[in-house]
Amino acid sequence: MSAVKVMLWMFVLFCLIFIAKAQVTIKDDSNNSAKQIELQSMRVDCKVASRFAHTVMTTRALNTAKASQEVFFEVDLPKTAFITNFSIEIENRIYVSEVKEKEQARQKYESAVISGQTAGLVKASGRHMEKFSVSVNIAAQSSVTFTLTYEELLQRRLGSYEIMIGVRPKQLVQNFEIVVDIYEPKGIAFVDVNGTFITNELLPLVKKTVTDKKAHVYFSPTLDQQKKCLNCEATLIDGDLFIKYDVNHAQDIGEIQIVNGYFVHFFAPEGLPQMPKNVVFVIDRSGSMMGEKMKQTQEALTTILSELHEDDYFGLVTFDDVIESWRPSLSKATPENVTEAKEYVQTINARSMTDINKGILYAVDMLTSEKSASFPNMSMIILLTDGQPSSGEQDLSKIQENVRNAINGSMSLFCLGFGYDLDYILLDTLAKQNDGLARRVYEASDAALQLQGFYEEVATPLLIEVNLNYPDNAVTDVTQSHFRHFFKGSEIVVAGRLQELEINTFPTEVSANGLEDQFVMQGVAIAEEWDSVFPEQEYIFGDFIERLWAYLTIQQLLDKREKCSPEDKENTTAEALSLSLRYNFVTPLTSMVVTKPQTDDEETLVADKLTEEQREDIPQAGMRAPSQLTGTSQRLRQYSQVPLFGGTASQRRLTPSSLVDGDPHFIIELPDQNNALCFNIDDKPGTIFNLVRDPLTGIMVNGQIIGDKKIIPGSKLHTYFGRFGIVDEKLGIRLMVSTQEIWVSEGGKQTKLSWTNKRTIKGLNMDLQVIKDQSLTVTLKNSVKFLIILHKIWRKHPYHQDYLGFYTLDSHQLSQDVHGLLGQFYHGINFEVSDLFPGKDADKQDAVMFVKRNKLTVTRGWKRDFRQDVKNGDDVPCWFIHNNGTGLIDGVHTDYIVSGLFKTI
Ligand SMILES: *[C@@H]1O[C@H](CO)[C@@H](O)[C@H](O)[C@H]1NC(C)=O
Ligand SMILES: *[C@@H]1O[C@H](CO)[C@@H](O)[C@H](O)[C@H]1NC(C)=O
Ligand SMILES: *[C@@H]1O[C@H](CO)[C@@H](O)[C@H](O)[C@H]1NC(C)=O
Ligand SMILES: *[C@@H]1O[C@H](CO)[C@@H](O)[C@H](O)[C@H]1NC(C)=O
Ligand SMILES: *[C@@H]1O[C@H](CO)[C@@H](O)[C@H](O)[C@H]1NC(C)=O
Ligand SMILES: *[C@@H]1O[C@H](CO)[C@@H](O)[C@H](O)[C@H]1NC(C)=O
Ligand SMILES: *[C@@H]1O[C@H](CO)[C@@H](O)[C@H](O)[C@H]1NC(C)=O
Ligand SMILES: *[C@@H]1O[C@H](CO)[C@@H](O)[C@H](O)[C@H]1NC(C)=O
Repeated sequence: MSAVKVMLWMFVLFCLIFIAKAQVTIKDDSNNSAKQIELQSMRVDCKVASRFAHTVMTTRALNTAKASQEVFFEVDLPKTAFITNFSIEIENRIYVSEVKEKEQARQKYESAVISGQTAGLVKASGRHMEKFSVSVNIAAQSSVTFTLTYEELLQRRLGSYEIMIGVRPKQLVQNFEIVVDIYEPKGIAFVDVNGTFITNELLPLVKKTVTDKKAHVYFSPTLDQQKKCLNCEATLIDGDLFIKYDVNHAQDIGEIQIVNGYFVHFFAPEGLPQMPKNVVFVIDRSGSMMGEKMKQTQEALTTILSELHEDDYFGLVTFDDVIESWRPSLSKATPENVTEAKEYVQTINARSMTDINKGILYAVDMLTSEKSASFPNMSMIILLTDGQPSSGEQDLSKIQENVRNAINGSMSLFCLGFGYDLDYILLDTLAKQNDGLARRVYEASDAALQLQGFYEEVATPLLIEVNLNYPDNAVTDVTQSHFRHFFKGSEIVVAGRLQELEINTFPTEVSANGLEDQFVMQGVAIAEEWDSVFPEQEYIFGDFIERLWAYLTIQQLLDKREKCSPEDKENTTAEALSLSLRYNFVTPLTSMVVTKPQTDDEETLVADKLTEEQREDIPQAGMRAPSQLTGTSQRLRQYSQVPLFGGTASQRRLTPSSLVDGDPHFIIELPDQNNALCFNIDDKPGTIFNLVRDPLTGIMVNGQIIGDKKIIPGSKLHTYFGRFGIVDEKLGIRLMVSTQEIWVSEGGKQTKLSWTNKRTIKGLNMDLQVIKDQSLTVTLKNSVKFLIILHKIWRKHPYHQDYLGFYTLDSHQLSQDVHGLLGQFYHGINFEVSDLFPGKDADKQDAVMFVKRNKLTVTRGWKRDFRQDVKNGDDVPCWFIHNNGTGLIDGVHTDYIVSGLFKTI
């Protein structure tokens, strides 16, 4: 039975492309019930009026089984779209969702949100989509209808708009229908329909009619036509349908439409000559780019260089912790220079750390010194990186400031983030603050094509400094009307509100710089034409220009929040929120509250939009196993099932995991035996213990104890680990990890990382991953993987302070000689437990343990393992060894005391 679910939606403006895609899946839990849930109908109804797309997906399913069962509804929709409505209809009762302020929804339905069932409800899906799923329990012989509505503005990219509709019903549908109606007053230039699942048999079923201003696409295969084979139930309908189209553009001021007191202006003149550009490619050659990524980058650059226009000037800068430039200044893109540049590209090698700051500043210098003062050349930097700053300036706000100051509005910065181990937010902010945009390049076989595709979008500047002017006395609330550049194949869109509903006409002017100096165009917007432009009401879904205006305004306000001052931010947020609520858009500031029926009650779901950071976490999600936390009763059962004899550990099979966390609680987990040992070490704050030492591989870990700020009255002084020193002698690596900061020194070079930034560094010998204020994962080449967890304590806590936990994730490559408080257990331990008897503590049981030729009295207890759940931890049942681990550890605990974090004695 599904309980509370929450969906998250996230909207991002940076894309030049808006893809519409939707997918409906009805599936059910049991395998053979495909026949028991009958898909009666599935309809995708997409209406586009002047690029504004309004899509309604309706699915009706019937439970033909004799018992109730769960019916799932899954939809993929573009991450750039806003959901505007969702409803569930069961037995003539409709449950309609509501859009509320995020915080309000959160407070009201706190229990729903914190019950932990939010995970997985809305997920990133592929490169451009988000998947929304919900399920409802349906009584026998009952039916359910799900209806989801979302809206978006299709953006022109490389000369066309694209609608993408994903359909994956997973079973045959009695009435299947995709209906797309496009209405474009300027006239439709072409419409192409294609789909990943459209076979030669299905192709004739795609009906397309295009008449001047209207296009109609209809696809409705019958049950038989959906079948993969004559006598089977498998469906051919499984994939994405693409509809690409363009409208007629002329060399004019574009289209201005006025409807119900709002106007929109589309500007994309044809036939302009292209402007020469100055472009510097700034390429990351840090260690992590090594291999496939560098090969793909070289391939893409080679193609891109060939496509440079002969009047263009270009430069190539590569950076790791040092900057290298192909040539000190820009070169004209003559065939000879391009050939030489291509040769240089082949010699780029991936090497060391990442100094993004210096890389960009170097390129800015190159472009600045080159620029002719009299005429603004189109200058741009295209940065490609796969990492986060790990050398030179690393303070993110400092980098932003440096770059902003250096560029000072004189050029555009485009940022391409390669893969997922990077700070995409930084790239996005850098780009937005400097008139550019950021894009992800996904690590895949088509990475080189993605890079080229992006370059193509910005390859041909036609105009710069484009200003669209409307008279103040006629219009108000106008969206962004100044654009730094206009590229071939794209489109500029401005929307606004009329001062008075009666205004039927107003003059418009567009000025810009093109190849031939100043470019000025004038026109007049006239409302009267409208009725004749939209003669057939069926194509209009009400107030679409008003909604288009709201959509565009919200997007721009959300972007503005990233670059404006803190005072402005408050107003900007308030404005975006009020518009989101007024137009029922699920944006990053709002949540959708969905009510659904449960067996004898109703249940509430809260749906948010995914943030870019949440999207980034997706590929790593697989690492996080579901929490093992179990209820008390189950825990007791588990306890009683623990065999009295601990069994012996084979050195080959056993991969025990050793850790220390909390009030130094050492836990030796023996998964092989489904058992664990634990002990505490109490000593004075300041004491440093050796945890791991392997003389053969040169790996060493020491940890220093810290105490509470103050002793809790009536209690003993609690101590924790507060600092760790990690050494890899062979690789020349040292790490110092404290609750404040992380110092890395490699080959004599020092770098400081902060806990407050999410960070991934992939080096040749070492990978580091910082999850903001949570954890650090250290992977040393050919040896070990450690996890350090930061426990943040409320700053004003009267007694406690921040502390650290240390977990060994992989130690199998260490030698047999490895030792230390944790290291001695890396190869397992033999022990036996017998004679369970009531302990001193009435709640706990004691037992006798034979270990290392000692006979000890141990106590059954639980300790916390925070690997899966950093906040609450998971309880691990273990045999507790008293007296600072005496008898279990070799020698006594004081034998492990060392004099410094990097000292062996
Ligand atoms: C479900 O499928 C699995 C494997 O396909 C099969 O072993 C199992 O018996 C099926 N269960 C039912 C209830 O049909
Ligand atoms: C949402 O959908 C329901 C049912 O289809 C409809 O009654 C309601 O008016 C819609 N709400 C909005 C804001 O469009
Ligand atoms: C349609 O898509 C298929 C597969 O994606 C592709 O091979 C084919 O060239 C496309 N056809 C057109 C006309 O674009
Ligand atoms: C290469 O570029 C430089 C600088 O723009 C230019 O002076 C030179 O003529 C070009 N060389 C060739 C071979 O085209
Ligand atoms: C553009 O920049 C190049 C190189 O900096 C310069 O030679 C050229 O004159 C500029 N173009 C214009 C139109 O100013
Ligand atoms: C930045 O640009 C502004 C106006 O364009 C100018 O007044 C200012 O001097 C510039 N600052 C620097 C550091 O070049
Ligand atoms: C913020 O909004 C308030 C009230 O609407 C207004 O008085 C104030 O001037 C605005 N502040 C800024 C910085 O725009
Ligand atoms: C553990 O060792 C510390 C310091 O050596 C000592 O003060 C303490 O009494 C010991 N604790 C137990 C329970 O033996």
